[in-house]
Amino acid sequence: MSSEHPVKEQILARYIARTSKSRGLDQQAKTSLPGGDTRWATYHLPYPVYMLRGEGCTLTDADGNRYLDFQNNYTSLVHGHAHPAITAAIQEQAVKSVVYGAPAEQQFQLADLITKRLPGVDQLRFTNSGTEASMMAMRAARAFTGKPVILKMDGGYHGSHDMTEVNITPDLSGSRLPIPRVEADGVPDSVLEAVAVARFNDLESVETILNSKSGKIAAIITEPLMNTAGIILPDEGFLRGLRELADRYGVLLIFDEVVTLRLDEGGYQGKTGVLPDLTALGKLIGGGLPVGAFGGRADIMALYDPARPNGFHHSGTFNGNPLTMAAGIASVKALTPQAIAHINQLGAEFRRGVDEAFAEAGLRGYATGEGSLAYVHWTTEKITSAADVVRWKQKAAELPRLLHMELLNLGIFAANRGLFNLSTPMTRQEIDQALEAFRAALFMLKPYVADQAPHLMI
Ligand SMILES: Cc1ncc(COP(=O)(O)O)c(C=O)c1O
Repeated sequence: MSSEHPVKEQILARYIARTSKSRGLDQQAKTSLPGGDTRWATYHLPYPVYMLRGEGCTLTDADGNRYLDFQNNYTSLVHGHAHPAITAAIQEQAVKSVVYGAPAEQQFQLADLITKRLPGVDQLRFTNSGTEASMMAMRAARAFTGKPVILKMDGGYHGSHDMTEVNITPDLSGSRLPIPRVEADGVPDSVLEAVAVARFNDLESVETILNSKSGKIAAIITEPLMNTAGIILPDEGFLRGLRELADRYGVLLIFDEVVTLRLDEGGYQGKTGVLPDLTALGKLIGGGLPVGAFGGRADIMALYDPARPNGFHHSGTFNGNPLTMAAGIASVKALTPQAIAHINQLGAEFRRGVDEAFAEAGLRGYATGEGSLAYVHWTTEKITSAADVVRWKQKAAELPRLLHMELLNLGIFAANRGLFNLSTPMTRQEIDQALEAFRAALFMLKPYVADQAPHLMI
């Protein structure tokens, strides 16, 4: 990060002064990991903080600095760190072996817990990541319908397999329909023959594509709310409209509930009553260990019955390993309706506090979100699409990244893109502490805003 504005220099200098051990570890890491990194989402300049320990909703870094964790491994740690029941389940299983190379009863126990909660999931199969879960859900849709194309939303993120590396960042060309493009190096353009792109909250764009590719589309995939793109909520009637279009055009509807499952006992599908045909899951269902699952209608999932002649193939060395299953069972059981109501309530208070902090500081910004999720936007315009988020980011200089760094300096650990999420050990006290830091960070940034992004001054 170059340092030219005095506010930026101060923030960076404080960061460097309090994280010298992290800097040393980052140097060591560069020998065998390119740039010292093995996961894009956790890297940032000048180097990320190395954590040594997590406990409840706190983290301690290599220099002994303590943080309130509002990142929670990008929502997978809904119960925070080292939750007693999850830790006990992992310990109990670890001494009996971590994986048997044979089925284990924890597999159907966790599957039972999930299928009882999610009205659109009669049966499921486990994977080891949300990426694999969305990949398998898409593949299941193709195999079931015999059609090649998956329709996704512009700016939608479903992991990092080839079929999802299309328009993760939205199309800004202004064309009537998003122009599909491959984003990741090494993904062949041929992927575009099997992926179409419509706009979230724009049923007309979905229907136009269903018409233009008539008979070729296997499924529509979307998150019920777009999390990675900036917590963009579905407009009233959008999800139901997708369901109706899917039925009218004879295509399947896939919900990616890898993140949204945390919002309601029945996931977003339970909350809204809009049931997908297939669902991709991940994150919290593994209790913090690597996991994913895809599931849905019994008639589709039945085709994965291995005893069935010509059934669909699905394998994976670590699928349903008992260590993850044990942690997942403890995690899902602990996510009671009361626990969900608790973090959802705190989330609403957090978002309200963020909005108030912007107003107090005289800066334009607010939080979108739902339940225990929040995303900070440096604009006061209504956010309805992924493109809206990219547009404000283009005009916000380095504000998101400086806010992230200043919050680290003040002991608040959040995702560097502006996503905050809560964990069940949090109380009103942690929300107040985070909001106090948030307010202080905004006041610190105000002179920078005045110079670099004056349109954000009120
Ligand atoms: C909505 C959604 N789907 C899929 C994934 C991919 O999950 P994983 O990182 O476990 O592969 C993510 C990850 O952030 C996600 O947010």
